[in-house]
Amino acid sequence: MTKDRIFITCSRGIDAYLDQEISSTGFPVLTRTKAGIETEGTMKDAMTLNLHLRTGLRVLFLIAEFSADGPEELYRKMTAIPWEDILPADGYFSITSTVDTPTIDNTRYVNQKCKDAIADRFVKMFNRRPDSGPDRDRAVVHLHWQGEDCKVYLDTSGEPLSRRGYRKIPFKAPLQETLSAAVVMATGWHDNGSFINPMCGSGTLAIEAALLGLHRPAAILRNNFGFMHLKGFDAGGWADLRKNAKAETRNRLNNRIIATDISAEALEAAQKNAQTAGVEHLVEFRKCDFADTAVPEGNGVVVMNPEYGERLGRIAELEKVYVRIGDFLKQKCRGYRGYVFTGNPELTRKIGLRTSRKMLFFNGPIECRLLEYELYGGSKRTKENNERPDSEDAK
Ligand SMILES: C[S@@+](CC[C@H](N)C(=O)[O-])C[C@H]1O[C@@H](n2cnc3c(N)ncnc32)[C@H](O)[C@@H]1O
Repeated sequence: MTKDRIFITCSRGIDAYLDQEISSTGFPVLTRTKAGIETEGTMKDAMTLNLHLRTGLRVLFLIAEFSADGPEELYRKMTAIPWEDILPADGYFSITSTVDTPTIDNTRYVNQKCKDAIADRFVKMFNRRPDSGPDRDRAVVHLHWQGEDCKVYLDTSGEPLSRRGYRKIPFKAPLQETLSAAVVMATGWHDNGSFINPMCGSGTLAIEAALLGLHRPAAILRNNFGFMHLKGFDAGGWADLRKNAKAETRNRLNNRIIATDISAEALEAAQKNAQTAGVEHLVEFRKCDFADTAVPEGNGVVVMNPEYGERLGRIAELEKVYVRIGDFLKQKCRGYRGYVFTGNPELTRKIGLRTSRKMLFFNGPIECRLLEYELYGGSKRTKENNERPDSEDAK
């Protein structure tokens, strides 16, 4: 079967984790940019990627490539694509685009041109056409136009893959599911020790950890993808993919996941989300101050995403919280690796522990760091080593 190029988009700062996932799923990484990764495969491969990827946002399947020096040439070349073989005449489609070309300063105009090209071809051939509009829950055509180079893709995801379908109640300042999955991957946790998540908020980190630990496909709860609205959708193939993935999913974890938060409302949201995700029996929830989280003897990771003053909380109060986070990690989490995800470098200095790694992420537009602390269990010498203030060399 011929393979086509597939581009998988991701949020800024996540491409390394997406790369890791694509490679371990057995697909080649042809090119990697900050915006995503190009691989190759069939439409069935695109379905597989949609089902499994934890850190990708959209799986774009390339159907045409041409040059266009302006909107009229774009229209002509879009009209030449055999849309009747791709979109059902009685269906619905929407157009999205990323445009960086001198003749255009309005992507809505480009989207309109593409929509007209598709609709006009249908009308000319059949005297009827599919509906179109802004909704992305059915067929989605994506145009990438840079300079004179146009690439036309089918967005086989439709709604972005960050919408797993379990987060019905977001609570305050939740991390996006794809970002949470990347953070869990960055900690190296894969059911190889306890996963402790104080300040769990709506539970996204703990839930993503549970899904990853079970090897459960990220999108197993979703029942709608862009590819389902294309002509020739292979419903049997999709059912087989899901069946095989379910057969490879583990039923239980070997280690504990503990999630705590001081807010009853947050915990209620987290528990409901975990229930929807089908992992509530694997996460031990408790309402408490983060410092009272009962960290089991042994090893694992402690992952915290405290407020950092951009959207919530006030800096002076947060400084005290960050000092206490340092004390908690130092005193109660020996033998673990500690992680703090934050967007405020000033506050991180208050933690007062030496970082072993600083990993760059973006939470929307906000530049963030995932700070890693090795929390040695043993001797005075290693403890002292631990307590050195943040070294700038670890950036
Ligand atoms: C930025 S939110 C965490 C968001 C979470 N990662 C998610 O995806 O939903 C920070 C959380 O810390 C909790 N929190 C604040 N102070 C706390 C404390 N002293 N002890 C425990 N939790 C606290 C808040 O209730 C809030 O849910």
